[in-house]
Amino acid sequence: MDYFKRTRISKILLENAVPLNQNIIVLGWVRTIRESKGVAFIEINDGSCMGNLQAVLHDPTKFPALEKILTGASVRAVGKLVESPASGQKYELTVSEFELVGEADQTFPLQKKRHSFEYLREIAHLRPRTNTFGAVNRIRSKIAYAVHEFFQERGFYYIHTPIISASDAEGAGDLFRVTTLDLTKPPMKDGIIDFDLDFFGSEAFLTVSGQLEAEIAAMALGDVYTFGPTFRAENSNTSRHASEFWMIEPEMAFAELEDDMAIATDFLKYLFQYALEQAADEMAFFGQWIDKETPKTLEHVINSEFVRLPYSEAIKTLEESGENFEFPVKWGIDMQSEHERYLTEKVFRKPVIVYDYPKDIKAFYMRVNDDGRTVRAMDVLVPKIGEIIGGSQREERYDVLRDNMISKGLNPDNYGWYLDLRKYGTTPHAGFGLGFERTLMYITGMANIRDILPFPRVPRWAKF
Ligand code: 4AD
Repeated sequence: MDYFKRTRISKILLENAVPLNQNIIVLGWVRTIRESKGVAFIEINDGSCMGNLQAVLHDPTKFPALEKILTGASVRAVGKLVESPASGQKYELTVSEFELVGEADQTFPLQKKRHSFEYLREIAHLRPRTNTFGAVNRIRSKIAYAVHEFFQERGFYYIHTPIISASDAEGAGDLFRVTTLDLTKPPMKDGIIDFDLDFFGSEAFLTVSGQLEAEIAAMALGDVYTFGPTFRAENSNTSRHASEFWMIEPEMAFAELEDDMAIATDFLKYLFQYALEQAADEMAFFGQWIDKETPKTLEHVINSEFVRLPYSEAIKTLEESGENFEFPVKWGIDMQSEHERYLTEKVFRKPVIVYDYPKDIKAFYMRVNDDGRTVRAMDVLVPKIGEIIGGSQREERYDVLRDNMISKGLNPDNYGWYLDLRKYGTTPHAGFGLGFERTLMYITGMANIRDILPFPRVPRWAKF
C-alpha cells in the first residue's frame, strides 16, 4: 500500500506546505458526511491537528464506497488540493479515488453533538477522536517535548529511576504494593507475612517519587532530571488527584533553595510560553471552548514576578484575612487548597512560592533550618489550582538526616545508601517535583485530572 506516501492534514492546514493541483493521498476518519446537489462533502480528520479537510466528491455515483461510509469510518482519499470556494476553510480536496479502509456502523458513539466529559471517560478508547481529547493528547506530547528541551538546553541529564521501589520516598505511606505472594494464603512467620519469600525477597512497592534515586544521580552527574510515572494510593477523590500520574523531578548538586526557586520559576514560564507559541491551534480551541481565561492567565504568569513568602508570613496573612475558611488556620497546619488559592487569587493575584514550612508536616529529607522547627521546603502555588510544584533543599548533613529519620519513625538501616551519599562527598543540593497533569490542567483549563490522563487511574477506576 501507499500509506506512507500520505499527506498529513497538519501539513496542509497548519504548515501551508502542500502545493495545489497535484495528487495527494489523505488517510483519516470521517467526522461528517453530507450530500447536496449531487455532490458529497466528507469532513476527514487524521489526528495530526485540530482541523478537518473537506473531501469533495463530484458525482457520488462514481464512488461505490460512499454507500458504506458513516461517521467514524476510516477512509483513503486521493485527489487534488484546491482553494475552497466555501467560507471558513482555505482548502478542500477534489477527490478522484475514494476507498473505505475500516467500516463504522450506526452504533459509533461519537455523533455530532457535545458529549459530557463524564460520558467520554466511559469510552476512553474512542475519546481521543473528539476535538477536545485530540487537543489534550497533542498538547501533552508537545509539553513533554518542551520539558526535555528546557532541561537539555541547560545541561541537565535525563535519568530513569525505578518504578518498583523498596522505599517510601515521601514517607507518607500511600503505597501500592508489588507482590507475587498468594494473597489468599500468604506465607507467615511469627504471626506476620514473610516477605522473605516474596519475589524480591523483601517488600516492594510502586514508586511515589524518583527523588531519592535522582539524588544519587545528582551526586555524580551534577544536574539531572527524571520524567516518569509515579503512583500514590491516597484515597483522595478530587479533581486534582490521580493514583498514577507523571512527575518531573530535577535535582541539582551544589544548589540551595533559592536556586531551586529560580529554576522552578523559569521552568513554569518556559512551559507556558511553549504552549502559547507551539500549540497555538490547540490553545485557541481551549480558550474558546474550555476556559476563556486560560490564555490570559498564562500570559499573566509569564509576565509576573513570583512572590516568595515564608510559611509563617503566609499563615499570618491568612489569620488576619477575616475569611471564613473551612479548615481553620494556625501555625503548623498543612495548607489546604482553599488557603493556597486565597493567597494566589485574592492576596497576590499571581504565583506565590511559600517556603520554610514546619518540619513536622514535611518529609524527612528536607534541610532543617537553624530555628530547628522549620525546613527548607518550598511549594509553588498558582491561581486556580493551588500547589503545582513541591520541592526543597535536601538535608546534606549525615547526623541531622539520621536524627530526622528516627524522629519520623523511619528506620535508618533501610536508607543506608541514602545516608552514604552524605558520608562520601556530600554537597548542598536541591530539587523539586512538578506534576505533569496539573501543569496540563493549568495550560488547557481542563478542570478534571481524569480528562488530562489518557487512561486515568483513580480510586475505584482502572478501566482500559
Ligand atoms: O509535593 P510532592 O509530593 O513532592 C514530591 O514527590 C517530591 N519528591 C518532589 C521533589 O522534591 N523531587 O509532589 C510533587 C508534585 C505536586 O506539586 C503535584 O503537582 C504533583 O506532584 N502531585 C500529584 N499530581 C496528581 N495527582 C496526585 N495524587 C499528586 N500528588 C502530587
